[in-house]
Amino acid sequence: MRILVTGGAGFVGSSLALAFKRDNPTADIIAADNLKRRGSELNLPRLRDAGIRFEHADIREPEDLAALGPMDLLLECSAEPSVQAGYSGSPAYLLDTNLRGTLNCLETARRHDATFVFLSTSRVYPIDPLRALPLTAKNDALTIPGGANGPGWSAHGIAEDFPLDGHRSLYGATKLASEQFIEEYRAAFGLKAVINRCGVLAGPWQMGKVDQGFMCLWAARHLYGGKLSYNGFGGLGHQVRDVLHVADLYDLLVRQLADLETSAKGVWNVGGGAANATSLRRLSAACADRARRELEIASHPDTNPADIPWFVTDARRAATAFGWTPKKSLDTVIDEIFDWLETEREELQPLLS
Ligand SMILES: NC(=O)c1ccc[n+]([C@@H]2O[C@H](COP(=O)([O-])OP(=O)(O)OC[C@H]3O[C@@H](n4cnc5c(N)ncnc54)[C@H](O)[C@@H]3O)[C@@H](O)[C@H]2O)c1
Repeated sequence: MRILVTGGAGFVGSSLALAFKRDNPTADIIAADNLKRRGSELNLPRLRDAGIRFEHADIREPEDLAALGPMDLLLECSAEPSVQAGYSGSPAYLLDTNLRGTLNCLETARRHDATFVFLSTSRVYPIDPLRALPLTAKNDALTIPGGANGPGWSAHGIAEDFPLDGHRSLYGATKLASEQFIEEYRAAFGLKAVINRCGVLAGPWQMGKVDQGFMCLWAARHLYGGKLSYNGFGGLGHQVRDVLHVADLYDLLVRQLADLETSAKGVWNVGGGAANATSLRRLSAACADRARRELEIASHPDTNPADIPWFVTDARRAATAFGWTPKKSLDTVIDEIFDWLETEREELQPLLS
């Protein structure tokens, strides 16, 4: 078994590579990454110690991918993962990596007859209809009133049949376009591909920054100090996301790969669901508890054009199809992040505070 993980030094890529190696010690696993994300280099010793080969490679360059040789499974985990990317300055890097680079990976999988796993995003769902949901504020968090529902939405969250008309951010568009090409490769070449539309993923070894990886950023700033602000939607911190531990994503992937007959069709919403959702303000309280200090949090009421007030993943379809449920609660995710920040303080504090 030979597995190529593109973006293999990133948060999800390194977590999946390490989990696959732990459970398949004889597998030949290659983590390829261009180390664009600050902090990804901190994962290199962990990969090396586990017996995973690291290759410096850029998915925008087909020759880089060709040099990596054949594989049985290609996990495409590289991306510019920020939904705010491309708005100030040029969107070229975003488009070249998330669309053209993903197509290079897809073509690599076709050439080697490899199974392809694509980490798509909840942000393929369009912004205006998400902003138009009937949200009310309750206990410092936006919520959908019980019983309210519409096409593809309910208090359980956003499901796969939420209508796709409308704009969705440059990032979301690169992911949706990639999904469509994957669908074409399935039909044209019989490529086996799993498409998971992931909500917020979190856990230790995520190098949180202001525009991506808010769970780690929030915890790190509470523990190490630094600034935080509630941005958008009135600056109240009431916006909500559900959170999935990356180990639960791995658990699902193993089940999906064991049942490609089911998983390699359509798309799957993947997330922690309503039970693991939090607003920023509630997250602040949870972090203040663990860090034993309150942080003064600024407020910027203006909303970024790519932002949405509420996203909870309705992942019940995947749960039923694969007998899967997330095992790590929101509290466990936060606890694990704090443990990691304490243990690796020396290396992480300069990066995350
Ligand atoms: N983290 C989340 O909450 C989340 C949610 C939904 C989807 N996703 C998707 O999951 C995947 C992994 O995200 P992540 O959170 O690990 O992000 P990450 O930034 O931690 O990892 C991405 C890695 O890709 C690398 N990379 C960037 N451009 C590259 C290029 N041109 N060639 C090779 N490597 C390149 C980066 O250096 C980084 O190490 C992405 O596709 C992302 O869109 C993530």
